[in-house]
Amino acid sequence: MAELATEKHVRYILSVEKRKDNFESVVMEHLRMSGAYWGLTALDLLGKLDSVDVDEVTSWLLSCQHESGGFGGNIGHDPHILYTLSAVQVLALFDKMDVIDVDKVTNYIVSLQNEDGSFSGDMWGEVDTRFSYIAICCLSILHRLDKINVEKAVKYIISCKNMDGGFGCTPGGESHAGQIFCCVGALAITGSLDLVDKDLLGWWLCERQVKSGGLNGRPEKLPDVCYSWWVLSSLTMIDRVHWISKEKLIRFILDCQDTENGGISDRPDDAVDIFHTFFGVAGLSLLEYPGVKPIDPAYALPVDVVNRIFFTK
Ligand code: FPP
Ligand code: ZN
Repeated sequence: MAELATEKHVRYILSVEKRKDNFESVVMEHLRMSGAYWGLTALDLLGKLDSVDVDEVTSWLLSCQHESGGFGGNIGHDPHILYTLSAVQVLALFDKMDVIDVDKVTNYIVSLQNEDGSFSGDMWGEVDTRFSYIAICCLSILHRLDKINVEKAVKYIISCKNMDGGFGCTPGGESHAGQIFCCVGALAITGSLDLVDKDLLGWWLCERQVKSGGLNGRPEKLPDVCYSWWVLSSLTMIDRVHWISKEKLIRFILDCQDTENGGISDRPDDAVDIFHTFFGVAGLSLLEYPGVKPIDPAYALPVDVVNRIFFTK
């Protein structure tokens, strides 16, 4: 079986889209805030976060923050809850939370909770269980979960649960593995996993494994490396990972590597990108692949970073 081409992936992450200068300029021009989170977390899982100039990334990141407290995807872009979580995750990786005004970021997120407990992604109001997860994950990292109505937030997430055990974007929305990660992650962080029917959901999730060993996000869809994360993290949180074949999934992810130039794609022989490179490495981390640091399935950050957030200071 092919092995993980760690050195090549590190080189790929550091020089995305053939920019050989430095990581920071790549982040600024191409990857935006979530790209920074994907690339930097993958580097950390591979033990190479020290290849990055922390001060340069931090100062770029701070210039993406708005008066409201929220972060944009890049300098001059409107604030959104997704980029706010990515910024907070990057600062957590760097152990640099002291550079932001935590109360200001908290107020931005608190302002996005709606009367029914759901969250909007930004001032324009789109509601989605992704934003519930993001709000809960971000506030938990900031130690400010008590500033929102957690009970209502959990109630809204449960109202998006379907008969098949899965979760959708909004009440009645089709079950989708990405949304399931968000709902299960939010329930895990708030200590509400007892509200999940683990066998029913575990059954739906383990049926996502197809012949090639890869996982899809919904019935009848093609397998895709990013679902190695969305499905596997959910199975991990409900303690049902042993319901899929780990060996076959490892082989599928390794088959999606570009072993010449580094990077991981969605499916074998497709073009690589930073998103699938991160989720491939994160999936291997959950599969306990040798040489990859363990990742926390709910916070999507390395376990040592999560331990530092909650068990030090
Ligand atoms: C699939 O998207 C994935 C989702 C719907 C979940 C997205 C979750 C977040 C943005 C929360 C933050 C995530 C982390 C890891 C911290 P897709 O558009 O690729 O779906 P498709 O495969 O159906 O096109
Ligand atoms: Zn994908």
